[in-house]
Amino acid sequence: MDALIARAINDLAPARRAVALTGAGISIDSGIPPFRGPGGLWERFDPMEIAHIDSFMRNPAKVWKVLVKDLKDVIDAARPNDGHCGLARLEQLGILTSVITQNIDGLHQMAGNTDVIEFHGTFAWQRCMQCDRRIATSKVDASRLPPRCACSGILRPDAVFFGEMIPPVALWRSQEVAARCDVMLVVGTSAVVQPAASMPVIAKEAGAVVIEINPEPTALTGGISDYLIQGKAGDVMNRIVAGLEAKR
Ligand code: OAD
Repeated sequence: MDALIARAINDLAPARRAVALTGAGISIDSGIPPFRGPGGLWERFDPMEIAHIDSFMRNPAKVWKVLVKDLKDVIDAARPNDGHCGLARLEQLGILTSVITQNIDGLHQMAGNTDVIEFHGTFAWQRCMQCDRRIATSKVDASRLPPRCACSGILRPDAVFFGEMIPPVALWRSQEVAARCDVMLVVGTSAVVQPAASMPVIAKEAGAVVIEINPEPTALTGGISDYLIQGKAGDVMNRIVAGLEAKR
């Protein structure tokens, strides 16, 4: 691992347009469970039953009850960890320009990254399915489910359910920053959900170095990524940032 950390420091030191693609793994140390693997949400719930737009349309109260309400409490309590803060530091150092995140928890913005592309939308806002008005999640009264807008329309998270399109601007911007980055850091994602998982492919084809940070190999390992630093996002980012700061 020491040699790979040193390699990442060398790859990142001259970079000026690095981009991170992040997934649920980066937020685990902030108390937010991942989707897959041990303790993952999809161990407890069938995603097609609970996170598909058709399920929400059929029974919004049920989806609110089992998924959204719990998630609201967990996300409300979450704070950025060393993984998020490390990426914010890379931006301050002039190395990283953008974060593409599949997470809906807002922790990259809280850590200080200024260009965060929310590929799967956000949980910070709810959207009325009738009048399209957006309401901050913190202002939603979830004592009666499903919560409703003043116009009586049902509120839904402004996030992407299975069976829905990626917000077009997020998709377009992600493809753009992936195509012109010099390094892509892929942190805490199993890289099995498309089209997010194709961003490292775009980066690689455009000539970027693709570095994975993950305790486990992923779908990208050994093919798309140049190398995998096997470890937790917070630990690895701390070491990379310390190495880059020491070079200044
Ligand atoms: P997953 O739950 O599929 O994968 C989490 C990844 O984090 C795994 O590869 C773990 O090995 C890794 N991991 C675990 N602990 C870690 C740590 N401390 N530091 C770094 N990595 C760690 O989550 P995503 O890849 O984000 O989509 O899932 C992608 C999408 O699938 C989600 O955005 C969501 C889900 O269905 C929608 O809901 C549309």
